[in-house]
Amino acid sequence: NSEVFILAIESSCDDTAAAVLHNDKVLSNVVANQLIHNQYGGVVPELASRAHQQNIVPVIDAALRKANVQKEQLSAIAFTQGPGLMGSLLVGSSFGKSLSLALNIPLIAVNHMHAHILAHFIDEEGFDKPEFPFLALTISGGHTQIVKVNGFFDMEIIGETTDDAVGEAFDKSAKILGLPYPGGPLIDKYAKEGNPKAFPFTKPKVPGLDFSFSGLKTAILYFIQKNKQENPNFIEENLNDICASIQHTIIEILMDKIKLAVKETGIKQIAIGGGVSANSGIRNTLKETESKYGWKTFIPKFEYTTDNAAMIGIVGYQKYLSKRFEDASVVSKARIQF
Ligand code: KG4
Ligand code: ZN
Repeated sequence: NSEVFILAIESSCDDTAAAVLHNDKVLSNVVANQLIHNQYGGVVPELASRAHQQNIVPVIDAALRKANVQKEQLSAIAFTQGPGLMGSLLVGSSFGKSLSLALNIPLIAVNHMHAHILAHFIDEEGFDKPEFPFLALTISGGHTQIVKVNGFFDMEIIGETTDDAVGEAFDKSAKILGLPYPGGPLIDKYAKEGNPKAFPFTKPKVPGLDFSFSGLKTAILYFIQKNKQENPNFIEENLNDICASIQHTIIEILMDKIKLAVKETGIKQIAIGGGVSANSGIRNTLKETESKYGWKTFIPKFEYTTDNAAMIGIVGYQKYLSKRFEDASVVSKARIQF
């Protein structure tokens, strides 16, 4: 069947997103960001769910219009079942259920974490698809996972964070430096002009393939407090070097674990996803492994790495092909079994 049209809805956190796919090609990919949270320095769940309710109809309308697809042409509706904020998830699932009932087409539930990984299978010029099995590193404000991906529906988490996500490590470090939320992209920017070895921070000792980032945040806090006592302008005078050193430490923590995962599994294909994969230091370091260790690395198009509905749609397409449908009794899950 080569004429599958999927409408996908993503509302797990603070972005309301809808996309239309024709088979594995993205026809439209619309995201409404909720800037309201920035003034609070983090996502406020109650505000997020209210904003989803306001955004969802215009976002879906825009996705259909941009794709030039009529509701009647749709083959199925895919929505994010979890993990995420319950109030946010419920908006997308209620809307998805109603639409599938009204149009009398199948309903497909998608695990957001599978979607970050399978985003690599969107057909996009200039972007290769990994081959099974491969290792997926999902790094964002909410997630830090290494997953062994054996097939579209056969994946296993082999490492994950025991406390903060890597994006939180960036954002909380930035906050200590007095940078606005979300500070990850700013650390990246200043790091480009700094010396990554200027200030060595100790890396956490975590067994196996798991991660920990909360110790780093505390180390940075004490380091800044101590230096500011001696020099009140310490941050301003050393911002580039501090950012470069923080970023360097985070990259080393990630790379140590990926190297171990490659060693343990023998798999040398690494696919990254999630908002933090926008980080230029991480991208460059990963690319270098291709010539250095003979790895093959995959970095998706930026709009498919941050939270978006196109990635929900590609999982929807795969599930459509294998007829993995739900009825209206399907429930949202804040936490979800992988
Ligand atoms: O995937 P995403 O848009 O949302 C979720 O958390 O699911 O990821 C957002 C995170 C934030 O923590 C943000 O600071 C971080 O990704 N981020 C970056 C960069 N761009 C976004 N962190 C470091 N360097 C960047 N260039
Ligand atoms: Zn996400």
